Amino acid sequence: MTDLPSWGVASDSPTAQHYRTFGATEARGSSATYEDWALGIAADDEVLALIDELPRTKRQANLVFAAARVAGVPIAPWPQARGTFVERWPQIRVTASTHATQTNEAARCAVLLPVLARIPGPLALLEVGASAGLCLHPDRYGYRYAMPGGAVHALDPHPASGVVIDCEIEDAVPPDRLPEVVWRAGIDLNPLDPGDPATVDWLEALIWPEHEDRRRRLRAAAAIAAGDPVRIRAGDLNELVADAAAAAPAEATLVVFHTAVLAYAAPEERERFAATMAGLDAVWISNEGVGVFPEIEGRLPADVRHRFVLAVDGRPVALTHPHGRSYTGL
Ligand SMILES: C[S@@+](CC[C@H](N)C(=O)[O-])C[C@H]1O[C@@H](n2cnc3c(N)ncnc32)[C@H](O)[C@@H]1O
Repeated sequence: MTDLPSWGVASDSPTAQHYRTFGATEARGSSATYEDWALGIAADDEVLALIDELPRTKRQANLVFAAARVAGVPIAPWPQARGTFVERWPQIRVTASTHATQTNEAARCAVLLPVLARIPGPLALLEVGASAGLCLHPDRYGYRYAMPGGAVHALDPHPASGVVIDCEIEDAVPPDRLPEVVWRAGIDLNPLDPGDPATVDWLEALIWPEHEDRRRRLRAAAAIAAGDPVRIRAGDLNELVADAAAAAPAEATLVVFHTAVLAYAAPEERERFAATMAGLDAVWISNEGVGVFPEIEGRLPADVRHRFVLAVDGRPVALTHPHGRSYTGL
């Protein structure tokens, strides 16, 4: 007996392996729909053959699933979603071929804020890997920090914000104020315009189906960012960071930060960036996956799986949820 569906054949192609791993490790516990779709596809030679029509770099589950949702594939168990997926494959293929996975999560501001609130201001913010720049407006969002005893510490901007970010905080004092930000700038290989509806639609399609809170926040945060357009230079962070930093006003404290970016850079590029930061007159905040900076990781407690490390000037200060849902002081 087999538990494969009727069309299922246990393929061992690289694409099948990728979908099996994606379903069993990345999606499990975070998106029941994508876990189900990925494991269904991993055992579905007909659909695997369709996906293999794409260039290798475009076969990733995250990209194909977002393209499927743009094409109207229903959020339903794979046996029900499959028919629409196959029928609309031509559209899915075009979307996957012409788009890339790129996210922007404003909730990461909740884990930056405990640090930002302690830096003497006013602040000049320079974000590398800024995407659409949604993390460049930490002073314009509201926050609800839930503490271990059940108390909630609220922070709200003036004027009131349509974005309120929930974050569990432990072993740390929640921030007591929003920073005064007088200058903002960004760098990204592919800057996105938060005021462009098609861009926001695509960012939304990339949010996993069950992450309703992230979907709501995206639209509201994009509207805030679009209301005060920030210059995000197109290019590599190592090439541009020193020049971009030089444009910051001298009377403000320059903060250079990045969240979920350096994992995309090669180890020698990360080292080059860290060396640049060491020589810059700026506070450097890094919020990255464990392992991105081994020299920071060496100073961490043992069990840090599935967390990011928030470091200030190379010194780890907290473990954080990758999407900003929690902050654990070190
Ligand atoms: C996962 S997204 C994170 C975006 C944003 N920092 C956030 O937390 O929501 C990574 C971003 O880093 C950008 N990126 C990756 N490598 C880069 C590089 N070498 N220079 C500049 N930007 C880069 C990508 O284009 C993408 O927008």
